[in-house]
Amino acid sequence: MDDVIVVSGLVKEYGDLRAVDDLDFTVGSGEVFALLGPNGAGKTTTVEILEGHRERTSGSVTVLGFDPANGGRAYRERIGVVLQEAGFDEEFSVRELVTMYGGLYPRRRDPDEVIDLVGLGDKADARTKTLSGGQRRRLDLALGLVGDPELLFLDEPTTGFDPGARRRAWDLIASLRELGTTILLTTHYMEEAERLADRVALIVGGRLVAMGTPASLVAEETTGVIAFSLPPDVESTALPPLGQGVVVDGARVVVETTQPTRDLQTITTWAVDHGVELPDLTLSRPTLEDVYLRLTGGAGDDS
Ligand SMILES: Nc1ncnc2c1ncn2[C@@H]1O[C@H](COP(=O)(O)OP(=O)(O)O)[C@@H](O)[C@H]1O
Ligand SMILES: [Mg+2]
Repeated sequence: MDDVIVVSGLVKEYGDLRAVDDLDFTVGSGEVFALLGPNGAGKTTTVEILEGHRERTSGSVTVLGFDPANGGRAYRERIGVVLQEAGFDEEFSVRELVTMYGGLYPRRRDPDEVIDLVGLGDKADARTKTLSGGQRRRLDLALGLVGDPELLFLDEPTTGFDPGARRRAWDLIASLRELGTTILLTTHYMEEAERLADRVALIVGGRLVAMGTPASLVAEETTGVIAFSLPPDVESTALPPLGQGVVVDGARVVVETTQPTRDLQTITTWAVDHGVELPDLTLSRPTLEDVYLRLTGGAGDDS
């Protein structure tokens, strides 16, 4: 797989603040790669450097064989950009805007097809100032797609969407992936990353703290939570030893463990030996969100 994006030792300083601190990653052709991290982690800064919209302090960046800092028009014609906060002329209609943007690209898609694709078909003639927040975001997406880019940058593409609109955006992004578009997206929705991304990079305070497939990041967590209710007439003192993380609340027993397989065996062996059934016995494994919360320590400026 050819690398479409190669980032090495990337640093961005704003005065005294090191917003991006020595990032290294690559994105392969056709891959969907997600930058995850709390607000202020440096996601937008990184993406905008790759787009050629911000200057880096140091490090090397190659995108589609260009240095985005001086890729010029030849570079911009091959990428699509959906900024975190875009603005457009309020007086134009949706169709006019999408058509104008398309005019900047040699290899463009049909504007009405793109408008339909993002679900704005019934708003094609509406002036953009009449659009709702979610509809504006879908227009942003249409403007990013109309140039039929090889590489698409999506900075928090579904922030502010209702669940239905988010599902449609996910379907759209998944279908672009099927068509072979390489996508770099940022998000702080774990479900979005799990759904869409082949690989994710988690950044906190400008530094990379974890990278891999969503499944591989979850698999590195060895913890689990076992829960069940004690059968009637069985006291918690009758339970076998289960380590430190046992909490008994009435009949409810919750075991937080770093050796879930072994503790589960201890519990089931004990129950079978005593001839009792544990009808609501469950083992839950961590999700990407648990990994995220552990590695970010709940960081983020909530802005
Ligand atoms: N133009 C700027 N000037 C000064 N500081 C900035 C600028 N842009 C971003 N920052 C700071 O850099 C850090 C990273 O911001 P940003 O890249 O927007 O993070 P994210 O997109 O992950 O929320 C934040 O602390 C932010 O306040
Ligand atoms: Mg951002």
